[in-house]
Amino acid sequence: MMGSKALCFGLFCVLFASYIYIPLPANIEEPWKVMALNAIVKTCTFVGMCFENIGIMTYEEFISVLFRLDYTQPLSDEYLTVTDTTFNDIPVRLYLPKRKSQTPRRAVIYIHGGAYCFGSFKQRGFDFLNRWTANKLDAVVVGVDYRLAPQHRFPAQFEDGITAVKFFLQDKILTKYGVDPNRICISGDSSGGLIAAAVTQQVQNDLEVKHKIKAQALLYPHLQLIDTDLPSHRENEHGIVLTRDIGIKLVSAYLTEDKTFPQALKRNQHMPLESRHLFKFVNWSTLLPKKYRKDHVYTEPVLGRTNYSLPGLLDIRMSPLLANDSQLWNLPSTYILTCQYDILRDDGLLYVSRLQNAGVQVAHEHIENGFHGALSFMTSPLYLHLGLRIRDMYISWLDKNL
Ligand SMILES: *[C@@H]1O[C@H](CO)[C@@H](O)[C@H](O)[C@H]1NC(C)=O
Ligand SMILES: *[C@@H]1O[C@H](CO)[C@@H](O)[C@H](O)[C@H]1NC(C)=O
Ligand SMILES: *[C@@H]1O[C@H](CO)[C@@H](O)[C@H](O)[C@H]1NC(C)=O
Repeated sequence: MMGSKALCFGLFCVLFASYIYIPLPANIEEPWKVMALNAIVKTCTFVGMCFENIGIMTYEEFISVLFRLDYTQPLSDEYLTVTDTTFNDIPVRLYLPKRKSQTPRRAVIYIHGGAYCFGSFKQRGFDFLNRWTANKLDAVVVGVDYRLAPQHRFPAQFEDGITAVKFFLQDKILTKYGVDPNRICISGDSSGGLIAAAVTQQVQNDLEVKHKIKAQALLYPHLQLIDTDLPSHRENEHGIVLTRDIGIKLVSAYLTEDKTFPQALKRNQHMPLESRHLFKFVNWSTLLPKKYRKDHVYTEPVLGRTNYSLPGLLDIRMSPLLANDSQLWNLPSTYILTCQYDILRDDGLLYVSRLQNAGVQVAHEHIENGFHGALSFMTSPLYLHLGLRIRDMYISWLDKNL
C-alpha cells in the first residue's frame, strides 16, 4: 500500500519534472535563474490548468490572483511625486519630477503587457521601469491601465488606451503637468506594445487630435493575429516563459468566448476567405530578413475552413500590421526591440520591414539571447540581468530620440 503510494508519487514527480524542464539555448545568461523562473511559471500554469479542469476557478482567474500579489502602492520619493488617478475614468499612475524646470518636460505614456488578460502599471516591474524613466529622462511618465479579458474583450483594451492618451494630449492637461506637446512618446511591451502601436496609428491619423506623437517604443510587441505560423512561432513553440499554447489561449480569450477558436488559431485556420488580400502585409517569405527565415518553408494560409464572425480578425486595432502603407507613412520615429527566443519575435521584425518600406524612421535592436517578458523580472527575488539590459537599451534610445 505504502509502496504503491510512493510509486505513484515518484511517477508524478518524474512526469512533473519533465513537464517543467526545458532545455535552454546555450547562450542564455544566468541559466540557473532562468531555469528556476521557467519552472515557477510552468508550475503556476500547471496548477491553473488543474484548477480550471477541476472547476475551482479558471486559469485566468488563478493567474490574476498571482499577478495581484505583485501590485504596489504609488510611492512618492525625494525626486518624484507619484499618484494614482484617472484620465476620463481610465486608471493611470503619474510620475511627476519634483525639481523645478525652466522648460516644459518630455513625457512617456507606458502601456503594460500581460496578454490582454493580466497586469497593471502597479506591478513592481512596471512601477520600477516608469519610475526609472521619469528619473533618467527628467520626464513626466504616465502608466496606463485598461480593462482586461476575458471579462472585457476586444476592443475594450484598445479603447481604454486611446481614451487615456487623448485625454493626456489635451492642451490644458499638458500645461497642467508642464509637458512639451512636441516631445511625447507612447511605449508598451508585448500586448501593451500592440495597444501602443494601434493607438499611435489612430492618433497620427486622427484629424481631431492636434498634438501628435513624437516617438513610439515597442518592446517585444505582439502585432498581429492573422498568421500564427511564423518562423518564430515554430521555433519557440515551447519557449521560455511564454509558450505558443498559452499565448493562443490568452489571445483567444481577448477575442471570443468560443471554445473552438483556440484550436483553429493553433492550426492557423481561423481566417475567413475574404481576408486573402491582408496576407501580403504579414507575408514573412518576403518581409522577414533571410537571417530569421532560415530554411523555414512558407505555406499559404488555409482560409474559410472555419467561419468565425469576429470583426477583430480583420481589424488594424487588433493587428496593427494590417495597416496599409498610406496608414503607416506618417507614424513617428519608432523603436522596436525583439528577442530571439520569443514567439512574437517575427511580429516585431515584420513591423520593422513594413515601417521601413513606408519610409518611417525605425531603430531596431535585437537581443540574440533574449526571451519574452524579461521586463517583468527586474526586481528581486526574480531579478534578471536581461531585464535591466532591455531597460537600458530602451531608455538610451528614448533619451536620444525624444
Ligand atoms: C507570399 O510571398 C510569396 C513569395 O513572394 C508568394 O509566392 C506568395 O503568394 C505570397 N502569399 C501571399 C498570401 O501573399
Ligand atoms: C465559410 O463561408 C464561405 C463564404 O460564405 C463559404 O464558401 C464556406 O463554405 C464557409 N465554410 C464553412 C466551413 O462553413
Ligand atoms: C488604406 O486603408 C484605408 C482604410 O481602410 C483606405 O481608406 C485606403 O484607401 C487604403 N489605401 C490604399 C493605398 O490601399
